[in-house]
Order: sequence, then C-alpha cells, then structure tokens
Amino acid sequence: MTEGVDRRRFLITAGMGAGACLALGGSAIRLAASQVEGGMASLKDRAAKKGLLYGSAVLQRELTQDPAFAAVFPQQCDIMVPELELKWDHLRPTPTTWDFAGADWLSNYAQQNQMKFRGHTLVWQDALPSWFAGYINPQNAKELLLGHISKVMGRYAGKVHSWDVVNEAIWPPDKRPDGLRDTPWLRNLGAGYIELAFRAAQQADPHALLTWNENWLEEETALGDAKRAFFVQHLKDLLSRGVPIQAIGLQSHLIGDHNNIAGPHFRQFLGQIQDMGLKILVTEMDVREGNLPNDINTRDQSIANIYYEYLSAVLANPAVIAVLTWGISDKYTWTAQSNPRADKAPVRPLPYDQNMTPKPAWGAIARAFDNAPSR
Ligand code: XIL
Repeated sequence: MTEGVDRRRFLITAGMGAGACLALGGSAIRLAASQVEGGMASLKDRAAKKGLLYGSAVLQRELTQDPAFAAVFPQQCDIMVPELELKWDHLRPTPTTWDFAGADWLSNYAQQNQMKFRGHTLVWQDALPSWFAGYINPQNAKELLLGHISKVMGRYAGKVHSWDVVNEAIWPPDKRPDGLRDTPWLRNLGAGYIELAFRAAQQADPHALLTWNENWLEEETALGDAKRAFFVQHLKDLLSRGVPIQAIGLQSHLIGDHNNIAGPHFRQFLGQIQDMGLKILVTEMDVREGNLPNDINTRDQSIANIYYEYLSAVLANPAVIAVLTWGISDKYTWTAQSNPRADKAPVRPLPYDQNMTPKPAWGAIARAFDNAPSR
C-alpha cells in the first residue's frame, strides 16, 4: 500500500471514529466522493435508503449567481429551507405591504427540482423588520401574529413539508419560572402566544408538519439540561391540551472543540420526545470552529468527527426524519460573520469547501446515513 493510499484510508476512517481527534501531517488531502464507501452516492440518496431526508438552507442568489453551487445543491439535497427569505424582515417591508418574491422563487425552485420545502420561521424574536418594535402593542399583537401566520402559511399551503412555527422560545438565562425567553411576543401576548401560534398554523396549512425549533439543546451543560427540561415541560403541557405540535427541530449549531455532545442527557431527551409521539428534525447543522488549531487537516478531521458522532447518536432515534445543514459550502456560511476564527482564517463548518469539493465532513455525514438504522 502506498503512503498516499494509506493516508486516504486514514482520512476516510477519521470522519467515522467517535471522539477520535486526529492530526494529519503533510499537505492538505481532499476527500473525493469516490473515496468513501458507496462511491459517489449523494447524501440525499444515502439518506433516502434509510427513509430519511437530507437537505440544507439556501439563498436565492446562491442558486441564481453561482453555477458550481447550483449544480451540486439539487444533486445532494432533497429538502431545502430559505435561509432568510421567509423571515419577517424579508416578507414585510412595512406593516401593510408584503414582498414574497424571494420566497416564491425558492418555493418554485423546490417544486421544479422535486425537493421538499421547509418554512422558517413564523414566530421569532430576531429578523424582525425595523418598524416592528414601534408598532406592536398588547392591543394589536394577536392580530399581527395571526394575520402573519394565515397570510404566509396560506400562500404556500400544501407545498410545505414542515414549518418552524416557533423558533428559540426557551431561554433559561432570562430567569422566568417557565423558562421562556423574554421576547416582544411574550411581552405583548403572554406565554399563551405559543399555543395561539400553533393553533393558527394548523388552520392555515393542515398538511405541514408543525415544528418547534430550538437552539442549544445538544450539549451536556447546565444550559442544555435546563433548556431540555423546560422544553419537555412545555411540550407535555401543550400536547395534553391538544395543541397541534407535531415535531421539534434541533438546530444543531455545534462547536468543533467541544466534547460534550451526543451525551446521555441529550439521548434521553430524544427518547422523551419520541415517547410523546413527536417527530425530530436536525434543522440547521453546522460545526463552528471554537478554538480549533489553524491546520486545515486537523480542523477538518475534528469537524468531521463531530458530524459523525452527533449524527450517529441522533439517527439512532427512530423519531428523526430529516437532517438539514445550514448551508452546504464553506463559501456561504453565516458562521463566517457570527463566529469568525480569532486568527481570521476562513471557517470550514460545512460538508463542501469553498470550491465545492467535498471535505471529511461530507464523508462523515455519508457514513452516518450509511450506518443509520432504517425508518
Ligand atoms: C441566520 C442566518 O444564517 C444569517 O444569515 C442571519 O444573519 C441571522 O440568521 N438560528 C436560526 C436561523 O434559526 O434563522 C439563523 O440564521 C441562525 C440561528
């Protein structure tokens, strides 16, 4: 066996070893799809074999202005979600006017490419238009919320796989006894805004899987424990009152140098969600770098290990139906702005590099699907 082949094997298996932290010497080695067992089989085909979906967040301009990206995206993904185009600040330039151009384009693209389409997001404290804070009050808040849900969901009714109805509503650091985040929705409507939103969502589109999407559920930390406990408490209460919540979203923005993911508390939480009869989606996965060293091979291996370790644990639960990453290429990742490296080196959180070459993270996702139990 030549050194090159040896190294290649090493690279491929590195993306699979749970917890292994590997440093490769020498020059950067690129992962070709043919170097992973199963050859060129796409992530969506590997997922589909197990009854799962694979997809990604995307922006209209990435598909219209970048041919290399636009070639890979539909080849790998069978579910997509607008990264920005369905958020309040994009849809609502003023309180009385609407701009559906970007969202319509993406919804049509999904249909034309036989991809499922996710809606993101109806009730969130971020991405609100500049007029919003001065406009909402306890008198108009209910109408504002319900009017938005019926208009936006109604427009795409029947064409949406799942909708993130509520996003990031739990935030224990805000110190409320119910664990809810202090948001304009909560301040103007009280904690009942969650129930209101889900009931309105079911009326607006009875076919979409109604999802409550949350961040920071994945780590074995005090925050993770608190978020999971409050989440379970709210879900049990709402479901016991017939509120139509059908799935939860695990955002899964992970960190490459943390070693506390996929632990026992998290897995137990997934079991609790499954026992409630809810589906689970990985909605926004990426692996930011934390303090990983600058060396690209080391970084790529650590990030791939996190992908494999996390997805293996998640996919072991039969309630999980889909995995979406928050982008597919390092060329377009929000973490470049939200979590840049201290040394300013370009970040590498996604399965493809800037040139649309698959990285060890791609191999790790592929292997996680290959090794997942069938649904
Ligand atoms: C992010 C987008 O990717 C960024 O471009 C934007 O600046 C901020 O929002 N959780 C979510 C997503 O639910 O909507 C966020 O998307 C990332 C965190």
